[in-house]
Amino acid sequence: MSVFYQVACRIGFHPWEDLAEHPPFATKLAELLDREESGLTPPFGRALDVGTGSGVWGVWLARRGWDVTAIDVVEPALRRARERAERADVAMRIMRADVTSLSERDVGDGFRLVLDTGTFHGIDRAERAAMGRAVSAVASPDATVLLGVFAPGRRGPLPRGATRDEVEAAFAGWKVTDVEVADTDPDALARKLKFDEHWYRLRRE
Ligand SMILES: C[S@@+](CC[C@H](N)C(=O)[O-])C[C@H]1O[C@@H](n2cnc3c(N)ncnc32)[C@H](O)[C@@H]1O
Repeated sequence: MSVFYQVACRIGFHPWEDLAEHPPFATKLAELLDREESGLTPPFGRALDVGTGSGVWGVWLARRGWDVTAIDVVEPALRRARERAERADVAMRIMRADVTSLSERDVGDGFRLVLDTGTFHGIDRAERAAMGRAVSAVASPDATVLLGVFAPGRRGPLPRGATRDEVEAAFAGWKVTDVEVADTDPDALARKLKFDEHWYRLRRE
């Protein structure tokens, strides 16, 4: 999958970044974050943005008051994330790391929030299990994991999606507390490709 993202980044193909400007998606994610921040004042704690790409959501989290570490495996995307953070004038850690083997890099731990907008559903079963273990090892006891996941389906080189059972299998020791429609007004392409994306909110059992 990372070859796909290497190529996508080189040719400037990154339609997922447009979701930040798509209110039906961005407002829903903001609502989910409001819930995690409710009753607290910034700083809210450490957040890990996995598969950050060009840092759209990592920067957004940092602006909201999270202490963000953003990781990805595609260096040119990380370069764009660093530029984005600089333009936004936010401090965040941006580093190359694989979400399936976080302990190999010094990403830190104690993350109260783990956000994944589009990585889990594009990796294979073994990688998903490794991601579940890696995230469990760095997340705090009271952490929330938010995974944006397409419904299963074949979409050429695009992510094949995942079922709720697959989410639960990968995140042993976690419980899915909520499943919410991610995009209440999908655009024509999203509808055509049947993304049917949902947010999975997980907490430790
Ligand atoms: C659909 S893009 C989403 C990017 C970003 N989260 C966003 O919403 O704009 C998925 C990202 O996951 C990254 N990725 C894929 N496999 C990964 C892995 N094993 N570890 C870390 N990042 C990975 C890709 O390089 C890509 O940037």
